[in-house]
Amino acid sequence: MTSIEEVIRTRRTHKSFRPEPVPAEVVRELVDVARWAPNHHRTNPWRFRVLGPTALARLKEASGADAPKLDRAPTLIVVSAMLTGDLIQDEEDVCATAAAVYALLLAAHARGLAGYWRTPKVLRARAGRDAVGIPTGERVLGLVHLGRPRGAPAAPERADVETVLEFLA
Ligand SMILES: Cc1cc2nc3c(=O)[nH]c(=O)nc-3n(C[C@H](O)[C@H](O)[C@H](O)COP(=O)(O)O)c2cc1C
Repeated sequence: MTSIEEVIRTRRTHKSFRPEPVPAEVVRELVDVARWAPNHHRTNPWRFRVLGPTALARLKEASGADAPKLDRAPTLIVVSAMLTGDLIQDEEDVCATAAAVYALLLAAHARGLAGYWRTPKVLRARAGRDAVGIPTGERVLGLVHLGRPRGAPAAPERADVETVLEFLA
């Protein structure tokens, strides 16, 4: 059993994938893990939409020249947070959904899958949101790319602990 710490340290953003899609039952397992992310007031704000061929075609059409980038990974999941209009609640729900995306990426990595959290411009535009059925009142956090890895990306640099940690008196 791999430790959670090792899973966290070894997860990488992959941009190159094998062509086989992630089976639906595995996607279900990943979302089943993701929904255990911390979530103030238990609002369950996260929504996960797995693109099928028709939705992907619509999103590519809305993407214009960026459409080829949507062919990188065999499985694409739009993750969004449902908002209420209450600013504090919405901020917390966006944070909770980001935590859920990370949990999903870690669960995928623990299963030997490659993942990539991407925030394509098209999902900020009305046409892109419509293409994947995002209603007004949902905030898209990203388009998660999943699949079997091709190659192994190097770890990018991180700021060291001393740079980011301060013990206050
Ligand atoms: C909220 C968020 C949005 C991201 N959007 C993009 C993106 O649009 N394009 C991209 O190349 N990487 C994107 N990334 C991935 C980061 O570039 C990546 O995590 C970073 O380079 C560190 O690499 P690592 O994930 O392998 O540690 C995003 C990551 C996060 C957390």
